[in-house]
Amino acid sequence: MNGQESPLTIRRLVPNDEKALAVFFTKIASDPASSGFHPHPLDDAQARKIARWAGRDIYVGAFRSGRLVGYGMLRGWDDGWQVPSLGICLLPSMRGKGLSVPLMQEMHDLARREGAERVRLKVYSQNNAAIRLYQRFGYVFVSEEAGQLVGLLNLAPEKVN
Ligand SMILES: CC(C)(COP(=O)(O)OP(=O)(O)OC[C@H]1O[C@@H](n2cnc3c(N)ncnc32)[C@H](O)[C@@H]1OP(=O)(O)O)[C@@H](O)C(=O)NCCC(=O)NCCS
Repeated sequence: MNGQESPLTIRRLVPNDEKALAVFFTKIASDPASSGFHPHPLDDAQARKIARWAGRDIYVGAFRSGRLVGYGMLRGWDDGWQVPSLGICLLPSMRGKGLSVPLMQEMHDLARREGAERVRLKVYSQNNAAIRLYQRFGYVFVSEEAGQLVGLLNLAPEKVN
């Protein structure tokens, strides 16, 4: 991060974030470079649902100067899975600045605190930035599902190369 930029605040989303999340989803939905990120509909109704999520699954926002610039999810617990699925996405203008690293670290910490021993994710093999990021954190790609690679990470101990 460059010294002139304000720090990133990562926290769970709350109902008051609904509008900001809807704006974020609209931007991602219209960005061709984000086409590999389709974990759920990217619309206002979903923003409303997620900002009010009261289950065990975790939805976080990454804020810079009060603006929602990143989004992260750990989900699957509410559907009965032991190993949560991770997903992250940054606004297109916020990529390439290293912000994905603290976001990933926070997601892993949250998963650990919830007692998860492993995290999984799915990623398209063409999504180079995401794959490099996940490899840096130690994810191992173990299989393929619906045209995407399935990555797994053992959570302890945290290690970034
Ligand atoms: C995935 C995402 C969060 C990564 O964040 P980012 O800010 O772009 O990540 P970084 O700039 O830190 O790049 C991560 C790594 O990929 C590399 N990279 C970035 N763009 C790249 C590209 N087009 N081709 C190859 N490598 C690339 C970086 O050099 C870095 O590697 P390094 O750590 O070895 O230097 C971001 O690209 C994003 O939001 N993408 C859209 C949503 C998405 O695809 N999410 C993942 C779905 S599984």
